[in-house]
Amino acid sequence: MTEAWRPDGDDPRAASGPVRVRVPAKINLRLGVGPLRADGYHELNTVYHAISIHDELTARRGDTLSLTMEGEGTGELALDDSNLVIRAARALAAYAGRPAHARLHLRKQIPLAGGLAGGSADAAATLVACDTLWGTGLARDELAAIAATLGSDVPFLIHGGTALGTGRGEAVSPVLARPTSWHWVVAIADGGISTPEAYRELDRLRDRGTAPEPIGSTDGLLAALRQRDPAVLAAALGNDLQAAALSLRPALADTLKAGEAAGALAGIVSGSGPTCVFLTRDAADAERIAGELAAAGVCRQARTAHGPVAGARIA
Ligand code: C5P
Repeated sequence: MTEAWRPDGDDPRAASGPVRVRVPAKINLRLGVGPLRADGYHELNTVYHAISIHDELTARRGDTLSLTMEGEGTGELALDDSNLVIRAARALAAYAGRPAHARLHLRKQIPLAGGLAGGSADAAATLVACDTLWGTGLARDELAAIAATLGSDVPFLIHGGTALGTGRGEAVSPVLARPTSWHWVVAIADGGISTPEAYRELDRLRDRGTAPEPIGSTDGLLAALRQRDPAVLAAALGNDLQAAALSLRPALADTLKAGEAAGALAGIVSGSGPTCVFLTRDAADAERIAGELAAAGVCRQARTAHGPVAGARIA
């Protein structure tokens, strides 16, 4: 890159004040996991859905790159170069041929290693925030291409809404559904499950012949989304990684049972777990079921959420 870099203050497109970006958590309405590929990833056939539990990333001008945080995972999550926020800022700066100078602050509500793609969400938020802070002005598709280098779920969290994910999950195309809000209860567990560990466990169960049949195509789920009837959608939810999460964490079976006993239409493990999500009839139903789950002591926290919501956006 031979072009001279101009400091932020000289770039007419750079933001003058702090840039705050809100980014949602994701669940998978259906997560079909294919065989292990040569590159160490599994081929996916999934429907992503962004829900109203948000992290918030604020980017300010700085002379170096720094990250602070508050909320979920504070004191546990490393704030060094291994953090996806730092990696995202560096990836965007490298693409734009400029130094990665920013003071970043993360307010987390999405639990760590929860199967809700919290780390990927923070990477997506960082790309959108730094793009505005630095005035790099990339198109959403360019941001999504950088996002794919950071993690399989990151492109979806730039887009948000409800979307089909293929490849290793990074190839995202929006699902055009009639505007409907779905109401969820999100049961957050103590501790996390590492995503690679969940995939390895599924491979192990499949090798031993003890995994359930793969759930296969997303066609039924896509048809169910068009019907706007939560009972129909509930019947179409599915997750191949659920067996792996239950094998690693058998107590999750009690969480799923408790949600269904409380009147949820269906419950599934979210992504690689251990968070469980329950589809409910409406917002009032979700509130009641969240209260019952909290009282049953089968999770660390039970929250309500609705979806779909937008991806990483300036607040
Ligand atoms: O893409 P990401 O970095 O989020 O993936 C984390 C890990 O999850 C991968 O290293 C891999 O072990 C597993 N994974 C997978 N197949 C996918 C996505 C993730 O095996 N499609």
